[in-house]
Amino acid sequence: MKNRAIKNLIIYYFSGTGNAFNVTKWICNVAKERGITVTAISLSDANRAKPDIPPEGSLVGFVSPTHGFNFPPLMFHFLLRFPKVKNCKAFIMNTRGGFKVGKFFLPGLSGIAQIFSALVLWVKRYKVVGMYPVDLPSNWISVHRGFKTEVIESIYARRKQQTLEFANKILNGRRNFRALYDIIQDVLVAPISILYYFFGRYFFAKSFIASSDCNNCNLCIKECPVDAIKLVDNRPYWKHNCESCMHCINFCPHRAIEIAHGFVIATVFLVDSFLIFQLYKLINLDQLLIDLLPLFISKTALFFFDSFILIGCLILSYRLLHYLLRFKIVERIIVYTSLTKYKFWRRYNYTKFRMNKNPL
Ligand SMILES: Cc1cc2nc3c(=O)[nH]c(=O)nc-3n(C[C@H](O)[C@H](O)[C@H](O)COP(=O)(O)O)c2cc1C
Repeated sequence: MKNRAIKNLIIYYFSGTGNAFNVTKWICNVAKERGITVTAISLSDANRAKPDIPPEGSLVGFVSPTHGFNFPPLMFHFLLRFPKVKNCKAFIMNTRGGFKVGKFFLPGLSGIAQIFSALVLWVKRYKVVGMYPVDLPSNWISVHRGFKTEVIESIYARRKQQTLEFANKILNGRRNFRALYDIIQDVLVAPISILYYFFGRYFFAKSFIASSDCNNCNLCIKECPVDAIKLVDNRPYWKHNCESCMHCINFCPHRAIEIAHGFVIATVFLVDSFLIFQLYKLINLDQLLIDLLPLFISKTALFFFDSFILIGCLILSYRLLHYLLRFKIVERIIVYTSLTKYKFWRRYNYTKFRMNKNPL
């Protein structure tokens, strides 16, 4: 299929804090300048249950952040449901968490985001022509503080240039598989993506709380792309389907959403050192598994067992915490043991991204 045969560019995108949104916008602009018909569909609006079949000859792009060394479940499940086609090309772009240390720009890690998506599209008969990671500033303020504006700006300037070069290349009908340069480190971290999918994401979902600065404007509820926030006792409550996309915490105009670091650490400590310890003493599970199974398998089974108990306890204690937050003293302890409470931690809202923005 020659480039002139491309009639349509359709991009499905998801973005928590605007990085993937900006990448989508840059690609759309290049395509529009070339007179290609462009459609950009946000996964927060798309018919996620039954995506439309792209017209024959289209170039279909999937643009999304990387979460836990994979695409976030919203994009990942969408790709799995995406219809089979005849004669369509596809490209995959994942924005990753880039850093800058001194003069050095450090990349993020894709894990299975690219490889697995390419495999899924290949099975669905797409001709994958582009696999490209874009290392924009990391927005994951659960685990590190937000960057200074000048750092964000210099990362942006560098990555925009590279993204435009990629866009020109694939719209010229050429291919670019830049993502494959990182294959070794991506394969090495691949097992973590499985743990993140089954456990990690629930763990992070249950770390958000609304402080007493919340004035019930309900913007977080309206903006959430997966409807994961509801009001319980007049206070936002994060359900387990939260993708931790960081939109709510970075966007809240009252800076009223925090990551409850203290609560999470205390829960992990209590469950690990008391509950699981007592449980093992009671049922002697570790010895039983080691007797029955080869060492590696029994250790893995125990790890999954521990993680399962931990997530279960975290979900239950999150409910309890939500109830206790109505008491001022509990609320203050939780808020002041949250790193996000302190100004030095910074938010990531450089792009002032809103879910209803349109990249076209
Ligand atoms: C929950 C979560 C998990 C993340 N995991 C990864 C990861 O595995 N690898 C990576 O390079 N970046 C990771 N990041 C960083 C984001 O992928 C990155 O900042 C991305 O550019 C954000 O795009 P967005 O602004 O469109 O949401 C993670 C961020 C979050 C919030």
